[in-house]
Amino acid sequence: MTGRRAIALMTLAGTLLFLGAGAVNFAAQARRRGGPTSVPGWLAGAVRPPGALPSGRGAALFQRYACRSCHTLDGAGAHVGPVLNGVRTRKTRDEIIRWLDDPARIKPGTKMPRYHLTPVEEQILADFLLTR
Ligand code: HEC
Repeated sequence: MTGRRAIALMTLAGTLLFLGAGAVNFAAQARRRGGPTSVPGWLAGAVRPPGALPSGRGAALFQRYACRSCHTLDGAGAHVGPVLNGVRTRKTRDEIIRWLDDPARIKPGTKMPRYHLTPVEEQILADFLLTR
């Protein structure tokens, strides 16, 4: 093997290693955020217009944060807080997002905890609730 070919092969191997490590890191970060773990999945989310997020992710967040331990939705859950079906008749999207961000800032002393949601989680939850 000539020196030049060896260098070319090593460069190729290095590039592949770099891309592979990047992909693994991307997937690990996405999993931590609860987002899509594949590049096509990420692209599908990135080009989707706001307001058209799949209700599947909203339902999953609603489940993950156990909102039903206080709220009834679609006939299931508790009654510490109001039934969330029809919340769109009481609050705007912005009001829901601000409420989710820090309930006690809107209503001091409320039983609803602050979840420290990311802005994207707040939007997904709000869009989900607006469909109910
Ligand atoms: C510990 C109980 C509790 C949990 C858990 C809880 N909430 Fe609440 N939530 C309340 C209460 C109580 C209210 C009504 C405000 C008040 O009177 O304090 C409320 C109000 C709301 C409202 C406004 C409803 C309206 O009709 O104006 C929304 C939206 C909401 N919660 C969403 C959620 C979501 C989404 C989750 C999960 C991330 C959640 N809540 C978890 C207790 C809770």
